[in-house]
Order: sequence, then C-alpha cells, then structure tokens
Amino acid sequence: MEKEQVELVRKIYRITLGILSMTLLLAVAIVYIQIDPALKLFNNKEEIAQVTPPEDDDLIENGIHVRTGLKDGESLMLVVQNCTACHSAKIIIQNKADREGWKSIIKWMQETQSLWELGENEDKIIDYLVTNYPPQKKGRRAVLTDIEWYELE
Ligand code: HEC
Repeated sequence: MEKEQVELVRKIYRITLGILSMTLLLAVAIVYIQIDPALKLFNNKEEIAQVTPPEDDDLIENGIHVRTGLKDGESLMLVVQNCTACHSAKIIIQNKADREGWKSIIKWMQETQSLWELGENEDKIIDYLVTNYPPQKKGRRAVLTDIEWYELE
C-alpha cells in the first residue's frame, strides 16, 4: 500500500473508534439516568438535609423552643449551642439566679466540669439567663396600696 493510503486507513480507524466510544458513553449515561433520574449519587447532601430539617430543630411554639424547652429570647441559640451539649436544658430551666448567680454557676462548670471558655458570648448568655430565669421573688407579698376602704355598717 502507498504511504498515503495507510495514513487514510489509520485516520478512518481513529474516527470510527472515537464515534464508537462516544456512543458507548452516551448509552451508559442514558441507562444511568433511567435508574437515577435525580442524580442522587452525585449530590447526597440533599438527602442528609431531608433527614434533619433545620426548621424542626429550631421550632418555637408559644415562646418556647420546642426541642429544649427553653424560653425564646435574644441569644437563645447561643444558649442552646453552649449549654445543652452536656446536660438537658431542664437543669437550666429549674435554676433561677441573678447575674452573679449565673456567673458563678458557669464558673463552677468551667473549673470542675470542663465547660469551655465562652469568650464574648458569656455576657450574652448571662443576659439571656437573667432575663428569662431570674431569681424568684420570695417572702411576703408587697404591701397593698391605693385601696378604697369602706365603712362597715
Ligand atoms: C462541658 C459540659 C457542660 C456544659 C457545656 C454546660 N454544663 Fe452545666 N453542668 C455540667 C455538669 C457536669 C453539671 C452537673 C450535672 C449534675 O449535677 O447532674 C452541670 C450543672 C449545671 C447546672 C446545675 C448547677 C447546680 O448548682 O446544680 C446548671 C444551672 C447548669 N449546668 C447550667 C449550664 C449553662 C447555663 C450552660 C451554658 C453556659 C451549661 N450548663 C453548659 C456540665 C456542663
């Protein structure tokens, strides 16, 4: 064969091979799409998101954060994130204290229960705690005022 003819045959061979492999690839793609039309294999993030929808986790009903039972308020999520990792939020709800009280409970946990440093969040967390779980008023009721007494007959 002439040199040019050999070259031509090679060229045709390469082109045919190219078309064939493209066809094969396309066929595989078509079959795959039949099996998995949503392409779940390539983005399984979506599935994880469906299992734990964040809306439910942070659902607030009647002023209560449903998952933990904590009262809704400013910095609620900071408290949820930092204060419910080791124990139930019930332990917080059952306690009532003023600013100093909450501060010393936190300090106690940091010294003895390996609670981490809260940094600039500490003040926000304490604000939340004092606002929502303040010390209970105790002792006698306040003296009544503005009373219109009437004469007994
Ligand atoms: C690193 C773990 C950890 C974290 C995080 C944590 N605590 Fe505690 N906390 C403890 C342990 C342990 C106890 C003791 C539990 C027990 O007595 O059963 C405790 C007890 C308490 C008590 C009861 C104290 C008492 O005098 O009985 C309160 C209130 C409390 N934690 C509030 C909080 C608040 C508010 C936060 C967020 C700033 C928080 N905790 C974060 C570990 C932790």
